[in-house]
Amino acid sequence: MTPNTDTVVRSTQPEDTEKWLPMRLALWPETDESQHRKEMAMMCSDPKRYGVFVCEDGQGTLVGFAEVSLREWAEGCESSPVGYLEGWFVEPTNQRQGVGARLVQAAEDWAQSRGCTEMASDTNLGNQVSEAAHLKLGFQVAAEVIAFRKTLAPR
Ligand SMILES: CC(C)(COP(=O)(O)OP(=O)(O)OC[C@H]1O[C@@H](n2cnc3c(N)ncnc32)[C@H](O)[C@@H]1OP(=O)(O)O)[C@@H](O)C(=O)NCCC(=O)NCCS
Repeated sequence: MTPNTDTVVRSTQPEDTEKWLPMRLALWPETDESQHRKEMAMMCSDPKRYGVFVCEDGQGTLVGFAEVSLREWAEGCESSPVGYLEGWFVEPTNQRQGVGARLVQAAEDWAQSRGCTEMASDTNLGNQVSEAAHLKLGFQVAAEVIAFRKTLAPR
């Protein structure tokens, strides 16, 4: 890993919204913009429960983000609350430069400062890059699950 020293990792500010949004859309394209905006506003309005960190390059461009929350429970964890990595993204051209690791470190520091002794996360089955990155940063596989859903017929 070649650390990129021109970048800074910091908490998100209200003026970051329009730069944070396209990164969220890239990570979760199945979610529409209005829903993203609702979720972002919800996180920003509840700083006791949510932390959002961004990485900014020397030109003021945001190149990655990490979202962390406090969850009462997480798979495989023994403590409560648990720091949960809700979202983690680095722009493709900025990957493999240590940005992702620094964002996770900021998320872990946030959780630890709120009394957490464990951190948890998840990824889709088959996201090998995410799995490799989690393992490299000290996470262990706690469970492999398949999520199901169905629409209930109106009665
Ligand atoms: C996962 C992600 C955030 C990692 O960001 P990053 O800035 O590249 O991470 P780092 O440079 O800090 O890499 C940390 C370690 O992860 C592993 N890693 C990262 N990318 C990898 C890849 N493409 N292949 C294999 N291992 C990889 C490496 O072990 C790396 O350490 P090294 O470079 O010293 O070998 C980034 O790849 C990404 O945004 N992916 C698309 C979105 C995504 O899948 N997010 C996670 C959803 S849970």
